[in-house]
Amino acid sequence: MTQNEHVLVLNATGKVGRNVCRALKEAGFSVFGTTRSSRSDLASFGVTPVVCNYTVRSDLDKAFAQSGAKKVFVITDYFGAAKKSADTEFEQGKAAIDAAKLAGADHLVFMSVADAEYFDEHVTHLKAKVALEAYLQTANVPYSILRPCAFFENLDDTANFNPLKKGVVKFLSLQTCKYCATYDIGKAAAIMFKHPDTWLGHTLDVIGWQGDLAQVAEALAKVSGVPVKAKLAMPIFLRKWFLKDLHHMFLYYEVQKGPKGTPEAFKKVVPDAMSAEDWFRFHGKYANGEPIVRA
Ligand SMILES: NC(=O)c1ccc[n+]([C@@H]2O[C@H](COP(=O)([O-])OP(=O)(O)OC[C@H]3O[C@@H](n4cnc5c(N)ncnc54)[C@H](OP(=O)(O)O)[C@@H]3O)[C@@H](O)[C@H]2O)c1
Repeated sequence: MTQNEHVLVLNATGKVGRNVCRALKEAGFSVFGTTRSSRSDLASFGVTPVVCNYTVRSDLDKAFAQSGAKKVFVITDYFGAAKKSADTEFEQGKAAIDAAKLAGADHLVFMSVADAEYFDEHVTHLKAKVALEAYLQTANVPYSILRPCAFFENLDDTANFNPLKKGVVKFLSLQTCKYCATYDIGKAAAIMFKHPDTWLGHTLDVIGWQGDLAQVAEALAKVSGVPVKAKLAMPIFLRKWFLKDLHHMFLYYEVQKGPKGTPEAFKKVVPDAMSAEDWFRFHGKYANGEPIVRA
């Protein structure tokens, strides 16, 4: 394995990082994942842990040196690491891009968000993504951009009060949404790293499937063999009052039918991108650990 095949994944213990590591590993890369913890389980699935706070420039410089990676998957996070400051998220993303440049990276894949520039002014959590895409274009680091839509992982998100339970599926909208599996973000990243001639300087929307919440519930019922109800995680008037930022993001999905990309376009690159049924099988368990499919 040459250093050319080493990939550094930032924030490797998160919903995205974990599955991106897994997909890159399965694609044959030697994967190094950052985490602040010295006791992560990354090694148990073949990822070399690099103790690093991915928002701190000096830590990032050390992580590049330790991994020897010339390829890097960059994540930023408005709600978590940036503590709801778009300026902080921008600075954290800029630090990662600048560290990649200093380390002589030959390919940086940045995870943005599909249609980030089209949301209205209330959707503050996507502003840094737009600014970071613009920064990348001038930073002199070879790059590609992945723009995922809503993660299937939101359907089992205990940290955000939405654990997946048997017989019910909840989301912030009943209407048609476009979804992707975080694992498919990793598959797309692997394709970009393996085919720089095709992907350097290019952007790809990650959209695996679309459907309304009743169709999501049908998919879970089919996989689990148990009837499943589709429910709003909270009434729309509460979504509007208490989650203004996310409410306006959902209005873009519900009223303007965004994002504009399609599963068909993504499947030209990742033909076996997951559907809702595929994702429930892949995810495998409810939030309490009980398997979705009984042996
Ligand atoms: N949810 C969606 O539908 C969706 C769709 C498209 C894009 N996105 C994007 O996905 C990104 C979030 O990724 P994710 O869901 O993988 O994140 P996540 O699961 O929330 O990441 C959790 C990890 O963040 C690290 N962390 C938490 N607080 C931190 C802090 N203060 N400083 C440094 N590290 C900290 C922790 O790692 P350690 O403790 O191991 O260091 C933790 O394991 C955002 O940019 C969002 O815009 C989300």
